[in-house]
Amino acid sequence: MADLLLKKGKIVFIDGVREGDVVIDKGVIVEITSEYKGPADRVIECQDKVIFPGVVDAHVHMRVPGSEYKEDFTTGSMAAISGGVTSFLDMPNNIPPIISKKMLSEKRSLIDGNSFANYGLFFGATDDNVEELKRISNVPGLKVYMGETTGNLIVRKDETLEEIFSYTSKNFPVVVHAESQECLDRFSAEYSGEDARSRVDFHSVVRPPECAREAVKHVLHIAKKFDARVHIAHASSAEEIDVIRKFKSDKVTCEVTPHHLAFDLSTYDRLGSRAKVNPPLRSREDVDALWAAINDGTVDAVASDHAPHLLKEKDGAYEQCPAGFPGVETILPVMLDAVNHGLLNLDRAAQLLSSGPARIFGIQGKGQIAVGYDADIVIVDMDLEKEVTNAAMLTKCAWTPWDGIKLKGWPIMTIMGGEVTYEGGKFVSSKRGKELTFRSPDAL
Ligand code: NCD
Ligand code: ZN
Ligand code: ZN
Repeated sequence: MADLLLKKGKIVFIDGVREGDVVIDKGVIVEITSEYKGPADRVIECQDKVIFPGVVDAHVHMRVPGSEYKEDFTTGSMAAISGGVTSFLDMPNNIPPIISKKMLSEKRSLIDGNSFANYGLFFGATDDNVEELKRISNVPGLKVYMGETTGNLIVRKDETLEEIFSYTSKNFPVVVHAESQECLDRFSAEYSGEDARSRVDFHSVVRPPECAREAVKHVLHIAKKFDARVHIAHASSAEEIDVIRKFKSDKVTCEVTPHHLAFDLSTYDRLGSRAKVNPPLRSREDVDALWAAINDGTVDAVASDHAPHLLKEKDGAYEQCPAGFPGVETILPVMLDAVNHGLLNLDRAAQLLSSGPARIFGIQGKGQIAVGYDADIVIVDMDLEKEVTNAAMLTKCAWTPWDGIKLKGWPIMTIMGGEVTYEGGKFVSSKRGKELTFRSPDAL
């Protein structure tokens, strides 16, 4: 007897799409076959629907502790599940930042029992917490900020980077926010005049691709000496992609965001100051370079960089306006819409959204529709067309940069560990997610 049978759907495997039945028992995929004849407690007819592996969003900011008025684990994880994200990895730039064993365990107790999705918690690096790093366990990786962004986490010294890589090379990946602070300071001095600052696209001018390229090049050079694993977060420009391509190996991976794939400098006309994000929106040529990198295998993952801020903060003056877009609940529909537009195919989307991040961070049992994997699954209707609206968002910040944009291809049901938790636009179960388990790269 199986607990759940997903009948006659288009199953998205990592190497292609084939029709069949997915048999689930005790939360795990136990059989995949062209036609299952055995009994099942519940049968879900998936004719004309797509059976997609639950999205593993490797980059979100759920704002706990410290900025719960923007998002919390309940609202953020409900947003995730409604958008087909069954696991997420949360960043450490909280208030206070997660830079000690004690803060990590406090954050663990804050999320425990409150997240609808499965989760992992990153640890943050500073110039003097490498010893602390050696005391922690079961994290997806270490987060290094090379330039200032929301929160005040930063690593300024090369000696720290060397110390970090000599330890992490045997333990876990280092995720890098790669914008060089020296370069950012240079540009901010150069464009200090009123004229420049009043431009609506000022953020893109004052934080150019050059600063991202400098940081990527610098960190990859150092990491190479230690044969360490580095994951470049939110690569946004042709210049970064060129460098990453040169260094590319199974130790060097990168992610891009849906907003850097979907928006360019013209988006400032539509969103004004709301378009402020780090790294900034880039030119059309940069967007084209990201798509080329998606399709030639340079990009390993698409992650939302879900960075919720309230509209009253976003609509303020440039200096005060915080950088960041919410995105955890639109990541899947935005990528499905891109599939419908012929920009990539479904199995590539599943590699980027699910199996890729699971592989990079060594997440056990997640990321694929395959026997033995956890049954975290999204049922998708590729023909459903819907306009994204602020009003429909579950994120506490209550807006989305896709407001008013029509997308084709939507998740219609989310299954967590073999149990339907979201269906017909509603939560139908109170099932909570669990902390993910990470294998160290030595075990890979
Ligand atoms: C992020 C945030 O608000 O936490 N903002 C952003 O613009 N992406 C921080 C970050 O990822 O750099
Ligand atoms: Zn960042
Ligand atoms: Zn981020």
